[in-house]
Amino acid sequence: MTRHPLAFVILGAALSAAAGLLMLRMFGDGAVGTGWALDATARVSFAFWLLTFIARPLNAVSRSDFSKALVAWRRQFGIAFASAHIVHAWFIVQIAALVPADFPPARFVPGGIVYLVILMMFATSFNRTAKAMPGRSWQYLHRSGQWLIALVFLNSSLQGIFNPDHNRLTHVVLAALILAGVGLRAYVWQRQRNRRQAA
Ligand code: HEM
Repeated sequence: MTRHPLAFVILGAALSAAAGLLMLRMFGDGAVGTGWALDATARVSFAFWLLTFIARPLNAVSRSDFSKALVAWRRQFGIAFASAHIVHAWFIVQIAALVPADFPPARFVPGGIVYLVILMMFATSFNRTAKAMPGRSWQYLHRSGQWLIALVFLNSSLQGIFNPDHNRLTHVVLAALILAGVGLRAYVWQRQRNRRQAA
């Protein structure tokens, strides 16, 4: 299978668009269907993101063929995550046009900042652009960006658990997946720290 980044730009966007359009078909293209399309596109991008979040720590504990493959394909999954999330932005524009009263400009500020970070990570996920980043700035951007995205996903899954209009079980599963990823990263970090101190 090709590892060409463009293939993953297309894959992420195509899966996300297909999930969103399926929701519009099932629930209509009004605010309700568009809300579902937002959830569906966010879930597609979440799946790609989770793979990038757990790849390195999982490989540190298991060294299996699967975890090695995840590490090798991590950048491609990150590209697919970002392009799937650009489709999420398309549905944000749609819902803001359908129910403008629910989307005052202030509502776009926190998410807009996260989008900016996602776009910067996306733009620097290609060989040429990654190499152009000075010093350790690539690592700083991508590590802090990963944690910021983790927080946003965790926040929306926790909100879903406590929102009676949402499916609680789905959000419990989503939150559990994120917390498992966070726990795995913390465990690997602590283990590496202990080893460094013992050496
Ligand atoms: C200006 C930026 C953003 C706006 C206005 C926005 C808006 C929305 C809306 C209206 C929904 C549907 C909520 C519902 O079903 O009640 C949604 C769903 C979602 N969004 Fe965004 N979003 C933004 C950015 C982001 C970003 C940056 C992320 C993650 C990195 C994200 C992750 C999600 C997730 C995970 C869901 C599904 C929530 C659920 O499962 O209930 N969104 N978004």
